[in-house]
Amino acid sequence: MRLQNKVAIVTGAASGMGRAIALRYAREGAKVVIADVQKDAAQQVVDEITRGGGTALAVLCDVRKQGQVQAMVDKTVAAYGGLDILVNNAGVGKIIPFLEITEADWDWMFDINCKGLLWCSQAAARQMIQQGRGGKIINFASQAGRRGEALVLAYCASKAAVISMTQSMALALAPYKINVNGIAPGIVDTPFWDKVDEQFAQLLGMERGEPKRKFSASIPLGRISVPEDVTGAAVFLASSDSDYITQQTLNVDGGNWPS
Ligand SMILES: NC(=O)c1ccc[n+]([C@@H]2O[C@H](COP(=O)([O-])OP(=O)(O)OC[C@H]3O[C@@H](n4cnc5c(N)ncnc54)[C@H](O)[C@@H]3O)[C@@H](O)[C@H]2O)c1
Repeated sequence: MRLQNKVAIVTGAASGMGRAIALRYAREGAKVVIADVQKDAAQQVVDEITRGGGTALAVLCDVRKQGQVQAMVDKTVAAYGGLDILVNNAGVGKIIPFLEITEADWDWMFDINCKGLLWCSQAAARQMIQQGRGGKIINFASQAGRRGEALVLAYCASKAAVISMTQSMALALAPYKINVNGIAPGIVDTPFWDKVDEQFAQLLGMERGEPKRKFSASIPLGRISVPEDVTGAAVFLASSDSDYITQQTLNVDGGNWPS
């Protein structure tokens, strides 16, 4: 087990990739905090981990709210005695034509994808610095952060910001032996992409499911990814195997970028 005796917070762990990472971390021996705005779904992940013999706790937390974020870290420390790993996975996106982007759309995506990531990282880093034993922070970027897309401006910009924030945070936290890295997934079959599919289909005059099939057809490894595809990278970046790696954002996209 590669994360034995480690304590991890995974934000957005009630669904999709966050859920898959939480389940895998628990199997690797970590005690896992499932932080999400979806209370019942978060508890279901905890129950699944507990049934498998692991240790987990659900914490209701909107990453946009600094008070809730600090409470999430405090509850983690109270339950498990410290914090070693933060996965900033919570994120949202919407497909919108450039001329139709509203202030509300922009704020929603940047507040969750960037501001929330900052609050969580600050609160976790303060705890890790106080502990004095280093730590790992893993940020969820996207292939969308590597380039612009006509219908995806705000989401692409928010994920490009995540790549940049990963670099700055890594430099700020290097003196404390806290590694900060990112993961940039490609097209992952989650509830997130179901919504994206619906929005693309409406805008492009396609049937539901067609955008997912069309965009997936060009992935060099020949298939859309499933949430479990990112868990290997998430374990590596959380384990001591990556102690000399920081500032990096790793593409886990079946070779889709550059394309
Ligand atoms: N699915 C993809 O194709 C894809 C590709 C690249 C990157 N990503 C990124 O990966 C991450 C996970 O995506 P997913 O596809 O698993 O999504 P998902 O929609 O399945 O899960 C996201 C989770 O985040 C939670 N969440 C949303 N707002 C929150 C908030 N304010 N506070 C706390 N939790 C909140 C949701 O409740 C949900 O449980 C996101 O950051 C997403 O942008 C997704």
